[in-house]
Amino acid sequence: MDRLILIKPSIAYKEQILDMVKEWAHYNATHPTDPSPRSIFNKDYSNFEKYLDEFKQEEINPQPGFVPATTYFALDKERDVIVGAIQIRHFLNEHLRNSGGHIGDGVRPSERRKGYATEMIHHALKICKEMGIDRMMISCNESNIGSKKSILNNGGIFERTVSEDDEKLEIYWIDNK
Ligand SMILES: CC(C)(COP(=O)(O)OP(=O)(O)OC[C@H]1O[C@@H](n2cnc3c(N)ncnc32)[C@H](O)[C@@H]1OP(=O)(O)O)[C@@H](O)C(=O)NCCC(=O)NCCS
Repeated sequence: MDRLILIKPSIAYKEQILDMVKEWAHYNATHPTDPSPRSIFNKDYSNFEKYLDEFKQEEINPQPGFVPATTYFALDKERDVIVGAIQIRHFLNEHLRNSGGHIGDGVRPSERRKGYATEMIHHALKICKEMGIDRMMISCNESNIGSKKSILNNGGIFERTVSEDDEKLEIYWIDNK
């Protein structure tokens, strides 16, 4: 569990971040997939400084209806490769409490099934603890075996299933005391 560090988006990692986002965006365009975390795709990365600023705004000045949220990129230290990203929502509003949870994550297509999602959640739990989140809610589509296992690998306890937009989402909680 020590291959990764979670870093905030920064100009210092421009090349590595763009390498990941471009690979992943190409994959998303050609596969029916869950573009998670949405925060890395819903911005225009062709202007990188603006891209960085939008992450900062989500954290300090979120849009109405959104809670402050921080997106971290997962850097494999030894390989100097960004392998995924994870967004931490600072607290739950009604929508997040119903289904979204504290965290949204994803691993770039070429780096899946190597344990990175499991490790990203492990590191995110430590950040959540520092933020005072002592119970972390996380959800996944019931058919998303990789996501479900990465949650269970981190001690996730199943709470309930909710239906949303023709999908069934499973809600889990992780004790983070
Ligand atoms: C879901 C996702 C994050 C999993 O990332 P990952 O790095 O491949 O996950 P891990 O390597 O930590 O795998 C966790 C477990 O699930 C298994 N697994 C991963 N993907 C799987 C798949 N497609 N089918 C079956 N098992 C899978 C792994 O073998 C591992 O099993 P183990 O714990 O028994 O060893 C990744 O596939 C992804 O980014 N998908 C698109 C975005 C998404 O769905 N995000 C989650 C939103 S809720």
